[in-house]
Amino acid sequence: MKIAVLGSLNMDLVVEVDHLPRPGETVLGHGLARYPGGKGNNQAIAAARLGAEVHLFGRVGKDAFGDELLAVARDAGVDVSAVEQVDGEATGISMIMVGPNGQNMIAYAPGANGRVAEAYVTGALPRLAEADAILVQLEIPLSAVAALLHGLPPERPLVILDPAPAQDLTALPLRRVDFLTPNREEFAVLTGWSASGVTEAGRAGQALLDLGVRHLVVTADADGAFLVERGGATRFPAYPVEVVDATGAGDAFNAALAVKLAAGRGPYEAIGFANAVAALAVTRRGAVPALPTLAEVQAFLSRRRSPALG
Ligand code: RIB
Repeated sequence: MKIAVLGSLNMDLVVEVDHLPRPGETVLGHGLARYPGGKGNNQAIAAARLGAEVHLFGRVGKDAFGDELLAVARDAGVDVSAVEQVDGEATGISMIMVGPNGQNMIAYAPGANGRVAEAYVTGALPRLAEADAILVQLEIPLSAVAALLHGLPPERPLVILDPAPAQDLTALPLRRVDFLTPNREEFAVLTGWSASGVTEAGRAGQALLDLGVRHLVVTADADGAFLVERGGATRFPAYPVEVVDATGAGDAFNAALAVKLAAGRGPYEAIGFANAVAALAVTRRGAVPALPTLAEVQAFLSRRRSPALG
């Protein structure tokens, strides 16, 4: 199956800290690590490791980080022939702090990702439209995402939009989004949701369904994932694992969702599988290095029973 990913490629600069700082506070970090990342790149590599044929679309700088990111994605089996290296802009960077329970804080400098322009997307539309499913996030300009959604044929490919980082989505034609996949914080920004229960998620999510989104899936760390449908929500509990670093877990989830849906599976099976892939991703450090292979996911699932739905 073919998956296309339109999105960011970043170099992640990561410091582990004993606790995440409050505004104005300086905290002692433990070493500095550098990992390939970026939501688009992570989702592309995750899908490739799960066995999909993946084409990545985006922009990096003409610099050492850009070269390295392209080489890593290529080695993972991702077709990066459509990723452009642009003059005059550095490759995107994310500064990440990871706390003791694996939670993170991220500050993101888009650099060349900010040059993913409407014209680039329009030029890439014929290749993007060949995919069975498209993954897109918001670390590229919103106008580029709008160009994608406006330019695609009405029914195919299936579109999964990860609204991260969260921003106002009302300028987007959300009727062309098959799955919207905010995490808990993004869902709160989009809807004002502040509780954690499945009933409240169901209520808060109706507003996004009213905007035309076909399916809404909210990822909620240890609380698992919520599938919000007309009239209510279903909770898919997380697999209990030791969380080392949550960076990239949402990307692993989105990629796994795309792989199953593109293969014709239904949302329930796809979300259960995505929960397992995300669970494995949080047990390892870094974004790209933590993304599991299909064999690793199958071995994990053979050892665990899937948690009962709530
Ligand atoms: O979703 C995780 C990614 O988002 C990181 O790899 C980092 O680049 C951030 O922007």
